[in-house]
Amino acid sequence: MPECNRNEEMYRNRIILAPMVRVGTLPMRILSLRYGADLVYTEELIDWKFLKSVRVENQILQTVDFIDPTDGTIIFRTCNTEKKKVIVQLGTCDPERALKVAKMIENDVAGIDINMGCPKEFSLKGGMGAALLTQPERAKNILKTLVDNVSIPITCKIRVFESVEETVKLVNELVSTGISAIAIHGRTKTERPQHFNRNETIKIIAQRVNIPVIANGGSREIEKYEDIHKFKEACGVSSVMIARAAEGNCSIFSKEGKKPLDDVIIEYLRLCIEYDNSPSNTKYCVQNMLKELQETPRGKKFLECQTLEQICAIWDLGGYCRKKQLEFQNKGMIGRREVCPDMFSPARKKIKTSCDDITEHKCAFIRVNYSSDPELPKSKLIAHCNKLKVKLPKYETISKDKLFRSIVTFQGKKYSSNYWEKNKRFAEQGAALACIYSIGLVDKKELVENGSILE
Ligand code: FNR
Repeated sequence: MPECNRNEEMYRNRIILAPMVRVGTLPMRILSLRYGADLVYTEELIDWKFLKSVRVENQILQTVDFIDPTDGTIIFRTCNTEKKKVIVQLGTCDPERALKVAKMIENDVAGIDINMGCPKEFSLKGGMGAALLTQPERAKNILKTLVDNVSIPITCKIRVFESVEETVKLVNELVSTGISAIAIHGRTKTERPQHFNRNETIKIIAQRVNIPVIANGGSREIEKYEDIHKFKEACGVSSVMIARAAEGNCSIFSKEGKKPLDDVIIEYLRLCIEYDNSPSNTKYCVQNMLKELQETPRGKKFLECQTLEQICAIWDLGGYCRKKQLEFQNKGMIGRREVCPDMFSPARKKIKTSCDDITEHKCAFIRVNYSSDPELPKSKLIAHCNKLKVKLPKYETISKDKLFRSIVTFQGKKYSSNYWEKNKRFAEQGAALACIYSIGLVDKKELVENGSILE
């Protein structure tokens, strides 16, 4: 079979997890595949973010990570389980940048999609997303550059125009670049989810082009698995892509029917633990599953959670979370908090901050753990000095690559947190926390529980 047709086959008769910012991260993609999705799209990832990232093979999690070296943020994490099924969606307006990213990731993923439908101001201002719908030459240039130079299939996702003919014209132009499939969201740039999806427009396009058309926009009509097929038929396509119905309960992909939400959340959280997903992303995704259930007493308790362990504890997975986190730590995994300057640079020079006379602890300053100013570590240390009638603490801060570490001197002794913080204020609070932790001014158990200390 010619290369081109083989690529097209990948998109035929498929039920697909649609790209969703913050939702389409690794645990959600793996779970969707487990329930029955054939392909999974990542959230939209912006080209320049990728370009500044470094690729790291994470031996402990068995993942490939693209990491922002300045702060350790995981821009994209993937693994073998999804390698043949994951499509990275790129936000880009520039063929050169898109190609550079494609070259960075082509051996780790199954395909690359270009977002041509995002109506958000951020995208439009940057000439990305739906801005490309009105710049067909630029859109084609991006696609053609990728199709000609990358070994994996290239696709794009668009929205429709008011005019069916205008939409068909655009689709034909995009198809002429050699893309393997095209996803079509049946709403215009200005239409919102409450508007009807233009299934009829998708149907006409599907009849007029000879590559797979992936219908999108049907979540309002999709309550259960069978509805996916009704949507498929209404659009006259063989493949569909589902966003909101999967965001709420990704077992929508299961032929056996939707699973109870709690079962889905438990399975999702287990994956978050196993792939060390960030607490904020995990919380966001669970919130989108809970929806109005956030108003229940359990939902309210969940909303107060800050750490992954706290979130997991609500679904009786706190112990499993702690066990896995300790296991990863013992194997030497570098936590998000342990990112330090030059960490990913090949010519890494260790900045000397540790010396024998500094007492160091792994203390993270997490602002939300303090409800009022007097509770802040620095305030507590000052209050303690006033009580003892001794000199106030002195802070000394070093900075490198936009990261900060402070050392506090209290009663002739120096204390510091091992963690680098994003600003001087946080670094000083971290040092103060290490000090009050060390001299026993705080409840150690509480600090462990709220994620401030890893010891
Ligand atoms: C989206 N959508 C979207 N589309 C896209 O091309 N790239 C993206 O990153 C996102 N992000 C995103 C986040 C969230 C939370 C939602 C709900 C949606 C749009 C999405 O892929 C899809 O086109 C629409 O939601 C319509 O499909 P459904 O929801 O009717 O299946």
